[in-house]
Amino acid sequence: MLVHGLAIATAAATYLLILIGGLVHGTGSSLACPDWPTCYGTMMPVMQGGVAVEHSHRLAAGTVVILTLTLAALMTVSRDAGHRPLRRVAWLAVGLVFAQALLGGITVLLRLPTVVSTLHTATSLLFFSTVLYLAVRSRPVRSSSAGEGAPRPTAPIEAEGVAARRHALAANGALVAAVGVFFQMVLGGLVRHSGAALACLDVPLCRGSLWPTEAHPTVLVQALHRLGAIAVAALVLFSAIASLRAAARRPGLIALALAGPILVVVQVWLGLRAVTSFLDLATVETHLAVATALLASQIGLALASLPAPRREAVVHPWPRAVADLIQLAKPRITGLVIATFSGGLWLAPGHLPRWRMVTTLIGTTLIVGAANALNMLIERDVDGLMERTRHRPLVEGRLPPAAALVFGTVLAAAAIPLLLLAGNALTGILGTLAFVAYVAIYTPMKRTSPAALFVGAVPGALPPLMGWTAVTGQIDAGALALFGILFLWQIPHFLAIALYRSDDYGRAGFEILPLVVGEKRTRFVIVAFSALLMAISLLLGPLHVAGPLYTTVAALLGVGFLVWGLAGLREAANRLWARSLFFASLGYLTLLFAALIIDRTLA
Ligand code: HEM
Repeated sequence: MLVHGLAIATAAATYLLILIGGLVHGTGSSLACPDWPTCYGTMMPVMQGGVAVEHSHRLAAGTVVILTLTLAALMTVSRDAGHRPLRRVAWLAVGLVFAQALLGGITVLLRLPTVVSTLHTATSLLFFSTVLYLAVRSRPVRSSSAGEGAPRPTAPIEAEGVAARRHALAANGALVAAVGVFFQMVLGGLVRHSGAALACLDVPLCRGSLWPTEAHPTVLVQALHRLGAIAVAALVLFSAIASLRAAARRPGLIALALAGPILVVVQVWLGLRAVTSFLDLATVETHLAVATALLASQIGLALASLPAPRREAVVHPWPRAVADLIQLAKPRITGLVIATFSGGLWLAPGHLPRWRMVTTLIGTTLIVGAANALNMLIERDVDGLMERTRHRPLVEGRLPPAAALVFGTVLAAAAIPLLLLAGNALTGILGTLAFVAYVAIYTPMKRTSPAALFVGAVPGALPPLMGWTAVTGQIDAGALALFGILFLWQIPHFLAIALYRSDDYGRAGFEILPLVVGEKRTRFVIVAFSALLMAISLLLGPLHVAGPLYTTVAALLGVGFLVWGLAGLREAANRLWARSLFFASLGYLTLLFAALIIDRTLA
């Protein structure tokens, strides 16, 4: 009980600390103490004006550090088995609070650089989420509340299944909404610290448009914060509906579920008022208070529906967990996407400043990683049935599904703003389209139709197009030809794998072409798409994207690949041929892009 009480006190103190932090900025007191950690060389300066606000923030931070250290120490020595799985999280909180204090010091010493100040905001929210988790999870288990959050043991089996599904949807919905609110708040911090708060003075549009073109970056930051509010509103509404369906007459949960949408409406109103009142202090302070309460409500909802960590749960070492997270992002596929995206960047006519090049590349890497992680989450049931995938982290239980959900959502929530801000609206929209098509259409469709292959090839072919649009801001013939090459190439490439792994896919229940229309027809499809691939690869010459060197190599490679495909029409062609075609497809694409780059370099 002592530990639980202390955890609640730490979470409440952190909430207050965040609000005092908001006051420091809102009253313009951030640099009232020019030094750090002391204020004018003393721990007890004269408490008046800005010094009183800034130094109160430091004293409150000191209290939170002491509370957090005590909490971690008590959890470590506690004999309560329920505290065992929380120890690591408690020490993570200690790490975060020290990082937070350090960032606070750096931001003062460096005179409030935007990046450090925004990181300070982000870390404070991560820390708050961590202590909130500890406060909720350290609650002593009463026998009457055992099994709360899970379907009642006396319910009929069918009703139990329905209840379990509702709980899972509520937990997932709230987790995704919490991540969405977190990123919207970090973006709010960026609005504040980059001086973007009054970058557009009209509401609700920003300079008369949802996404003003050719505008100063601060205008885009402000516009993105407003667009983010729409996404957050949708996520919180979904989370509320899912939680209400799972609440089963639990008044606390119903109240928490209803609080979400109400807080969003208030928050949006406060945001609009912050602009029209030219940053009235009470309004911006309440905007911060409501945002933090909204974050807490979504974390609370998620924890109410997620099963508590098992007391006897195996704790995997950190490096292994990090390696597993990286595996979720499918690094090899992500690497290929980076290569094709870079190809688009390189080939597009025009010039992109280096920092924007790097940032859009990071954005693309993150969005692909996000799509892959969520794909693994959705397919974890069937991955266990296939030889190729049965050692994946979620299948072997090395990571919980919630970790994959949060990881995928965090990557996507970081990637989309990056693509929009560093690239442009078109590149951001294409990235979002690729993500949605892969996760929400292609992944479920694989189980019902072989046509999923053609849907999945669209997000696979978008990265070079995105590289191109990041430079030019528009889709033209050259960009479409690059998209076409990647789209058509994936068909023989995947069908080759499907042919030699058809047993594996069949076991998992995937509707792949060889199992639906037969191997012979699949081989004809391979030949048809290889011929189309050759034709479109030769278009880059006439479109002035490449010169004669590339065209010659593309023609030779195209003929070679087509002949290889045609060899599959022989009766004698077996799985060995399919495997060789798969490797040939990899060689084909690598050499084609190499020729393109050499041709371009020599031109
Ligand atoms: C659910 C939606 C929203 C959330 C969670 C949210 C959250 C935040 C947060 C956490 C901050 C930073 C406060 C700080 O660092 O002290 C912020 C700043 C800001 N937000 Fe929002 N916000 C939302 C919607 C909006 C909307 C719709 C607008 C409308 C224009 C808006 C306008 C602003 C402005 C102008 C600032 C800067 C205030 C300043 O410089 O003091 N927000 N927001």
